[in-house]
Amino acid sequence: MTEIILATNNANKAREIKAILGGRFEIKTLAQAGIEIDVEETGTTFAENAYIKAYEVAKLTGKPALSDDSGLEVEALGGAPGIYSARYAGKEQNDKANIKKLLSVMEGEQNRKARFVSSVCLCYPDGSFVSAEGEVKGEILLEERGTNGFGYDPVFFCYELGKSLGEAESAEKNLVSHRKRALENLAAKLGV
Ligand code: IMP
Repeated sequence: MTEIILATNNANKAREIKAILGGRFEIKTLAQAGIEIDVEETGTTFAENAYIKAYEVAKLTGKPALSDDSGLEVEALGGAPGIYSARYAGKEQNDKANIKKLLSVMEGEQNRKARFVSSVCLCYPDGSFVSAEGEVKGEILLEERGTNGFGYDPVFFCYELGKSLGEAESAEKNLVSHRKRALENLAAKLGV
């Protein structure tokens, strides 16, 4: 199996990616590759940020690197928080604060349609790459439901599952999620 390095410090993403692609690649985390790096996301799209992260790690390790740049797009907010999802409330990866801000911004809003988007990129040390995207549609709930998952999962009602992603078991989420779809699209392009 081809060895790939996961270009993420987000343990939740790493867990989901391993569950989805684990049988098809030998996946190593940054820590397992002995690398400590926090790549600055200077892109203006999910795809650009995914490439920036994967290329940096591929250059450093000399091995193919896989990244996911993802986020929540809310229709009534013109697609926000989008690429700023992790730092919506200011501090990077503060899920509770991000949810609190989202619910307050959405107070009284009737149109609660939203989608999660994931852009994944497998980049080689020479800078060549293969990328793919996936999405899952749903609505922003009025309050949190469930404690599973991470990020905005407890306030995202997934149409296909008929429950919030915070209420879904990880295996259920991994059947329909934006990340699952992006990774399957990528795997199809790679023929694995
Ligand atoms: P990134 O590390 O810049 O890609 O930030 C991704 C952010 O988007 C996360 O910190 C979460 O806030 C949000 N996000 C992405 N995927 C998910 C998901 O599967 N569930 C819930 N929130 C997610």
